[in-house]
Amino acid sequence: MSHLTDITFQKKMTGSPKIVVTVCSDSLTLPATLVAYSAELKEFFRKAAAAAGFEGKSGSNLNLVLPAGTPFDRLIVVGLSPKKEETAPNWRNLGGQMSGLLSGDSASIVLDDVGAEDISSCAQGLYLRSYKFDKYKTRKDDEKSKSKAQKLTLVADAAADAKKLWQSDQAVADGTVFARDLVNEPANILTTSEFAERLKELKDLGVEVQVLDEKELAKIGMRALLGVGQGSAMPSKVVVMRWNGGKDKDQPLAFIGKGVVFDTGGISIKPAGGMEDMKGDMGGAAAVSGLMKALAGRKARANVVGVVGLVENMPDGMAQRPGDIVTSLSGQTIEIINTDAEGRLVLADLLWYVEDTFKPKFMINLATLTGAVIVALGNHHAGLFSNSDDLSAALHKAGNATEELVWRLPLGKPYDKLIDSKFADMKNTGGRWAGSITAAQFLQRFVRNVDWAHLDIAGTAMGSPDTEVSRSWGSGFGVRLLNQLVRDGYER
Ligand code: BES
Ligand code: MN
Ligand code: ZN
Repeated sequence: MSHLTDITFQKKMTGSPKIVVTVCSDSLTLPATLVAYSAELKEFFRKAAAAAGFEGKSGSNLNLVLPAGTPFDRLIVVGLSPKKEETAPNWRNLGGQMSGLLSGDSASIVLDDVGAEDISSCAQGLYLRSYKFDKYKTRKDDEKSKSKAQKLTLVADAAADAKKLWQSDQAVADGTVFARDLVNEPANILTTSEFAERLKELKDLGVEVQVLDEKELAKIGMRALLGVGQGSAMPSKVVVMRWNGGKDKDQPLAFIGKGVVFDTGGISIKPAGGMEDMKGDMGGAAAVSGLMKALAGRKARANVVGVVGLVENMPDGMAQRPGDIVTSLSGQTIEIINTDAEGRLVLADLLWYVEDTFKPKFMINLATLTGAVIVALGNHHAGLFSNSDDLSAALHKAGNATEELVWRLPLGKPYDKLIDSKFADMKNTGGRWAGSITAAQFLQRFVRNVDWAHLDIAGTAMGSPDTEVSRSWGSGFGVRLLNQLVRDGYER
């Protein structure tokens, strides 16, 4: 649950807002709208800026309490002058910065000569930053720090055009928030069944939602996926979501998500320290779900299928054992060496199923797949593995535009050999080295004739570092990235 900002756009400043936020460059000039509203503000700001040493630099701000007789209680001026490494101001981040300064208060934001696209980006930053997952805080003293609904008015010349763009940018932000909520939710609440229920809400936006239960999955032959959930009291499920915004004959784009609602490791149980984080092991499924919400919400003109595998990895008398051999949907057999390498087993069957069933233009899967990718890339890039240079380049570009960054890592025969098994066609772990790559090689054995990319988001989907647009543990990583990919390259 989040406390999101209600954002309206208008051309002229009206009423008497208590707090006004605006921007300025190193020229230290206030927007004409403000000066017209109150002429004495100009001189007051000039003096205050000089006294505080404020130079309008990007990342800095001047937070002023106004004296009696002036029209507002507070004036916050945010710096716009780019730092060395920047070229243009990033309006999404500026919005985030403003939201952080307001911490829940309502305000008017004055942006005179800013273009409509930048205003809408700014609104998206404000909106994303104001997200807070505090639905389980019930004590009175927590109430105070709980964020209230924030009402923001963006005052700008381009208000009318910005309002139109915001419909689509807000849909994308809502998709991100949907993903964040799913990742932050604890596993006693977000069971496989509850996850599937929440996806049915997407029907209201025109998404077709089909839930496959264990019986149906067994009939299809998804024995690798079912093996992961067999020690859990919660039933495994696969949810297929379809958004048909393209022409009938357009090949669909396919997105596939790992949805391990909790990963104890199974019989190869994980150590206790930090295990609570494994409620976020469905970050891939959350990103795919949020993406479907975003695309449907902005009526994207493309055919898209999103498929998530929802399972819980628990140790139990019924649980899968190391040494077990399962036959996957592809017919290939897998020797289970470590029951904690479960995500790839889920994805193996989904990849095979999606390529067969939907003949997609490309398949992209997202998964909190390996701790090793965090060792390699930390929290700042997702690992990218792909059989296509073009798709990789497109993902890179979308990553840079959204600041949801990806970094390509290699695939190749010598790595693939590491998962050959003594007893079956392959084993589910490749030993100590290159853990993220051997996991990706495993997935590639279930991809035939289609462009494919795998994003290992273990470091970026959860436990995320604070940014200007996120203070949430679950970042919703992937929603904005993949929305951008679709928008830039695959809409008619
Ligand atoms: N869900 C984990 C990966 C993970 C680790 C995600 C930390 C987020 C934070 C995955 O299922 C896992 O346990 N992978 C093992 C694989 C190993 C057994 C080959 C890992 O990374 O240790
Ligand atoms: Mn695991
Ligand atoms: Zn896992």
